[in-house]
Amino acid sequence: MNIALLGFGVVGSGVYEWCRDRADLHVTRVLVRSAKPAVADISTMDFTDIVSDPTIDIVAEVMGGLHPAYEYVSAAMKAGKHVVTANKALIAAYYTELTSLAREQGVALLCTAAVGGGIPWLVNLARVRKLDAIERIGGIMNGTSNFIMDAMHAAPVSFDAILKEAQDLGYAEADPSADIDGDDIRRKLVISANIAFDAVLDEESIPMFGIRTVTDSDIATFKAKGFTCKLLATAAAAENGVCAYIEPTLLSADALESAVPRNFNLITYEGVNMGRQSYYGQGAGQMPTAANVVQDCLTILRGEGCFYTDKATPMALDGKDESHPYYVRTAASDKWLEAHTAETWATGVVTGAVNTYEMLAWAKAKLADDPTLFIAGIA
Ligand SMILES: NC(=O)c1ccc[n+]([C@@H]2O[C@H](COP(=O)([O-])OP(=O)(O)OC[C@H]3O[C@@H](n4cnc5c(N)ncnc54)[C@H](OP(=O)(O)O)[C@@H]3O)[C@@H](O)[C@H]2O)c1
Repeated sequence: MNIALLGFGVVGSGVYEWCRDRADLHVTRVLVRSAKPAVADISTMDFTDIVSDPTIDIVAEVMGGLHPAYEYVSAAMKAGKHVVTANKALIAAYYTELTSLAREQGVALLCTAAVGGGIPWLVNLARVRKLDAIERIGGIMNGTSNFIMDAMHAAPVSFDAILKEAQDLGYAEADPSADIDGDDIRRKLVISANIAFDAVLDEESIPMFGIRTVTDSDIATFKAKGFTCKLLATAAAAENGVCAYIEPTLLSADALESAVPRNFNLITYEGVNMGRQSYYGQGAGQMPTAANVVQDCLTILRGEGCFYTDKATPMALDGKDESHPYYVRTAASDKWLEAHTAETWATGVVTGAVNTYEMLAWAKAKLADDPTLFIAGIA
């Protein structure tokens, strides 16, 4: 099969490497916007050269961003080409449009690398849900935030110092907001939850709280109490839709997530009959991520390609049945918090069981009064 790459950066050049010596997959065209000497002979700056080329079977979009990625991917499917993408922002934002177009055109649309980078998470989620109903999914879905939390537990270090180290090592972007505030996780969660629950969730409405305000004193308190703090995503089947949220979470020392080191991911589904199965590995990086792009191309080559589910039903967020205790550290006094406080720790208070959506809405509003506020759910 002939593949055209859109983009030749970290992931694109990795896909090229994986395919170089294969007899079944050939990268025959690469869309670039600046010269790439390694692929000079097959480069083009004009997408028309790709979309109008009948010898190209698969368009692999590895350039990122929403535009022109959306227009290119749509045009490729309309031209009867299969599409593979690593672009979580694109799939999360245009889930309904792209999956409907793939169905209408009878072409494959696969995005395994978009969630979990090199981990075969989406393919296994899709596989299990053909047999079993999924009750809950989630876990550690962002390597940068896990790198920061892991380092802060290993030795006393400030959030700013470890963020700088993550940036120096290339684990965090110059603008780290998407990784530390939860936006990157939210895109991955929305794609995973849509597939798990045949849903279409509104990404922007999913409540989240990130790790930007965690301090070394918070971590010392958690360790003294026997907890490990991780930034977790959760989506669970609910009576009137799906309960999805992202929040720092205090886990007991024997929880699997507590042991996840450095920039690794651990993503889990719980099936009604299958129980828990977890996927651990590199959520990013050139060759792992590119491997999932190439695996998607091999799926298409075997004739198995289509999207991971053929149903996409708009669903509401329903958080009314999800509640647990929270750790809260705030410098501002608050009557609602006082009413819910059950215990006082060295650096903050612990509430009784509080509805998750109520707490995340309270915390979002409270940040305006106290920008240093930190909360963490207690599992
Ligand atoms: N890196 C990872 O570990 C990883 C993991 C999971 C998912 N992803 C996803 O994979 C995608 C690619 O990420 P990446 O890390 O490979 O990014 P990257 O290194 O920045 O590469 C993107 C490439 O696309 C090119 N490009 C951008 N817009 C273009 C356009 N309009 N026309 C032609 N070429 C264009 C860029 O060209 P220039 O070189 O000229 O700027 C660059 O070479 C993103 O959606 C990302 O979220 C990446």
